[in-house]
Amino acid sequence: MDEKRKVIFSGIKPSGALTLGSYLGALKNWVALSDEYECYYCIVDMHAITVRQDPAELRRNTLSQLAQYISCGLDPSKNVVFIQSHVPAHAELGWVLDCYAMFGELSRMTQFKDKAAKNADNINAGLFTYPCLMAADILLYQTNLVPVGEDQKQHVELTRDIAHRFNTIYGDTFAMPEPYIPKVGARIMSLTEPDSKMSKSERDGGGCVCLMDKPDDIMRAFKRAVTDSETEVRFDPANKKGVSNLMSIYSAATGRSYAEIESEFAGKGYGAFKLAVGESVVELLRPIRERAEDLLKNKDYLVQVYRDGAEKASRAAARTLRKVYKKIGFVER
Ligand code: TRP
Repeated sequence: MDEKRKVIFSGIKPSGALTLGSYLGALKNWVALSDEYECYYCIVDMHAITVRQDPAELRRNTLSQLAQYISCGLDPSKNVVFIQSHVPAHAELGWVLDCYAMFGELSRMTQFKDKAAKNADNINAGLFTYPCLMAADILLYQTNLVPVGEDQKQHVELTRDIAHRFNTIYGDTFAMPEPYIPKVGARIMSLTEPDSKMSKSERDGGGCVCLMDKPDDIMRAFKRAVTDSETEVRFDPANKKGVSNLMSIYSAATGRSYAEIESEFAGKGYGAFKLAVGESVVELLRPIRERAEDLLKNKDYLVQVYRDGAEKASRAAARTLRKVYKKIGFVER
């Protein structure tokens, strides 16, 4: 085992609750990668403040997200689990990379354009340079693979462009990261608007299920889920978006194939189907929620996890930052 394991980095903002989509689309995969790769999993609180946050809520969400990372199966002894603001190298490299990203490039980022449109009263500079901080997250750890959803691919591409630009000027400094989009990507859509991704920002619409939701809330969300005017449970994402999304969820929760699900509900109609999907999700999330609730009662343990994570991450990050500072001509401390 002298060959160095490949490095994985990913992060989620603590700007709201983790959803069923975060679990099936991200966290579940993160857990599966732990054995094979050297994994850094971050809670990106510095990214969260590009949109105004309530301080008490941000603090609560950050700790709760840490508890949920662990209760979803991320083992802090096998993965480096940490909070972004605890490792100042992210801010430091972020600034450097601001100076190697172009105004035009950043202007083309679709997430910036979307968020600027949604937060017209707060189009701050951080929102604009968000991708440079994300590039710093990734490049600090000499990351090879970045597990992200489709919507973040553009940011990873920009990270590659920045890394390439830097490496071309100064010689090899950063590993070239690649987006890692899981093959069986459970891309979970909103239950009420199956055209858009399930997201915490639409909580109010009832289209979102969160990992900490109680069984009653989960069942209510599934009973209200949008289907279509037919009655047949059939996987057809182009024409039956709502039903196909429910089938993906049921398949992920039970391990059953689409063909098995189709025959299980043949002739039974959507009512019974939606109940079954809801119940499968209740059982899937029950241990995750209960474990997280327990962990949140044990604050000392969580503190120990995030301190330990920050220490390991800082050590790795410092190596890259030192190299960068030297190459760009900063006087050594
Ligand atoms: N931008 C990502 C999102 O909105 C979160 C993120 C920040 C991230 N830094 C990252 C993801 C580094 C992967 C790697 O989902």
